[in-house]
Amino acid sequence: MLSQHTMDVVKSTAPVLEVHGVEITKTFYKNLFEANPALLNIFNHANQEKGRQQTALANTVYAAAVHIENLPAIIPVVKQIAQKHRSLGVLPEHYPIVGEFLLRAIKEVLGDVATDEIIQAWGEAYGVIADVFIQEEEALYQEAENKQGGFRGFKDFKVVKRVAENALITSFYLQPADGSALPEYLPGQYITVQVKDPNEEYILNRQYSLSKSYDGESYRISVKRDQKNTPIGKASNYLHDYVQVGDTLSISAPAGSFVYEATEKPVTFIAGGVGITPLISMFEKAASENKAAVKLIHSASHLNEHAFEKALCRIAIPENVTYVQHASDVAGKITKEMLAEQVDLTGEVYLCGPVGFMHEVIASLTELGMSRDQIHYEFFGPAMNI
Ligand code: HEM
Repeated sequence: MLSQHTMDVVKSTAPVLEVHGVEITKTFYKNLFEANPALLNIFNHANQEKGRQQTALANTVYAAAVHIENLPAIIPVVKQIAQKHRSLGVLPEHYPIVGEFLLRAIKEVLGDVATDEIIQAWGEAYGVIADVFIQEEEALYQEAENKQGGFRGFKDFKVVKRVAENALITSFYLQPADGSALPEYLPGQYITVQVKDPNEEYILNRQYSLSKSYDGESYRISVKRDQKNTPIGKASNYLHDYVQVGDTLSISAPAGSFVYEATEKPVTFIAGGVGITPLISMFEKAASENKAAVKLIHSASHLNEHAFEKALCRIAIPENVTYVQHASDVAGKITKEMLAEQVDLTGEVYLCGPVGFMHEVIASLTELGMSRDQIHYEFFGPAMNI
């Protein structure tokens, strides 16, 4: 339990942290990786280089500080991050290391402003916040382990099938290499794949959505080939170029809180490009059980980029289920007017796609009167806001 004085110190210095948040976390990561290079086997280097993870961590620490007197208020955010941490294999013993380097970075950036009293208060607060994460994560490790065929950490899966969905997207079908049962997952969840490119110094961890409904047979991930020779493209190009049927991939158990929740209201799924992947199994689930209108709108740059077309047409056979293709080179970007026509605004919307696309669609739906509770979404990469 933190003393009132400690909480006061933390709360009163939180605004300073907000101002210097990104600088502090940048300094923190630089020093952390210099002293603990093995942690580069866990963190996504592409996110590091783009600065996105820095922003995510800074935001979270600031939010936690603001709510230090009422930490249950940040539990929903912690739950989402804990899913990501669990899927990456973050462990309790990592927290003191991160805490130490975070405090050092605060001191380095703020200099004399960060008095011993302030550093001590933040150290105590970090310990309390870290405990909330550690507990949530342990619950998730146990949940993953206790499922039929479940496991903790990473496990080898065999590639049993490879399918080119279009020029850029290839699907990989995966089964447990030891022949054990396939743990169940919820529509919308993802796995972390450890890409071990012999030419890379560190393991590349990437999250890929499970792009079909659970069938007890195999997991399917559908990987878009990103630009070659870029940090972000390293993992996808390796998978496309080198991983064949019969190879094994080390993966963690399915995770993620962006999942379809059964509803009797109309549901519209809106996908941008490869953002379709988590929405396929959600669409399938909704189509199989919802009596109200169920629609999937897939927007892609060109018509030939509409992967999974056949499977989606099959899901859309019932009368209340519709599949709409949108090609922006022909029809332009999705506009507010299009959404007004296509989306049942009294229902629920699930969205996934590139950041710009998501911002625009969310803004339009909000202007059309949909509330935040009706719009469910997930950005690729670290959450942009909490
Ligand atoms: C991701 C916060 C501790 C490793 C994240 C994200 C946030 C965050 C906000 C982004 C989540 C998302 O992608 O949606 C925190 C906070 C911590 C903490 C507030 C301490 C209280 C740790 C520790 C480790 C760790 C101890 C392990 C060394 C990671 C990794 C990612 C991540 C590897 C994914 C980032 C990426 O792939 O770039 N964390 N974290 N975090 N965190 Fe933490």
